[in-house]
Amino acid sequence: MRGSRYAPCPATALRGVARNRRGAGTHGAVPDRATRDLFDPIRTPRLDLVLLRREWLEAYADGRPVHDLGFNDPDDVLSANRGVVAMRVQQLAHDPGQEPWLLRMLVLRADTAVGRLAIGYANFHAPPDERGMVEIGYQVAAHRRGRGYATEAAEGMWEWAVRHGARLLRASIRPDNAPSVALVTRAGFRQVGQQQDDDAGLELIWERPVTPATPGGRGG
Ligand SMILES: CC(C)(COP(=O)(O)OP(=O)(O)OC[C@H]1O[C@@H](n2cnc3c(N)ncnc32)[C@H](O)[C@@H]1OP(=O)(O)O)[C@@H](O)C(=O)NCCC(=O)NCCS
Repeated sequence: MRGSRYAPCPATALRGVARNRRGAGTHGAVPDRATRDLFDPIRTPRLDLVLLRREWLEAYADGRPVHDLGFNDPDDVLSANRGVVAMRVQQLAHDPGQEPWLLRMLVLRADTAVGRLAIGYANFHAPPDERGMVEIGYQVAAHRRGRGYATEAAEGMWEWAVRHGARLLRASIRPDNAPSVALVTRAGFRQVGQQQDDDAGLELIWERPVTPATPGGRGG
């Protein structure tokens, strides 16, 4: 990844795709409230997590002009993650229903010189699997780090996921990725194992079950 010694987690991104169930349907002329909630931005105190729809991702992957989603992206935050985008496009070709679980842009709402600003991305690798497990991945542009944006985005993603049926939250992180390990540790995740990834090398597997006593997925 450009400008950082920390590697993102794209190598694990396709794990579990085949066994995952489809996301909620998107058919019908007038989407109901629950369906709209799947596709609407996830709002956190400072950020809108804006879903990148299939057509948008396909255009981006092909290098075609993308539809204006109401934010500026001077850093082209996905440019160092074209492999992730390509994987998501491939997933959506096989199963369009996965769309709401995949890539969202982290858009800073605060007034900036360039208006609403893309500062990173977050995604789940796929919808919940048969155990209700979702695995998160995220990245913040190098010069925007250390201000709590990843923590805020991850919490928003997890709360949304729990609302939509996730029962187990997971992250696979290289042991030398101190910020990411700090993030999941602070969020109450426990290390449950490790794995050797072909690309990323050794990764520690962190999980947090969602229990009825932890509405919204916090704690536990
Ligand atoms: C991991 C990453 C997303 C964190 O983004 P961020 O917006 O800087 O994260 P936050 O500001 O929310 O900080 C998260 C935690 O990391 C800590 N942290 C931040 N920078 C750190 C550093 N250089 N060394 C150690 N800890 C650091 C913060 O103190 C915070 O921990 P705390 O809640 O206990 O205080 C960012 O470093 C990144 O994009 N890295 C490259 C991609 C990547 O590694 N993604 C994760 C793959 S699993």
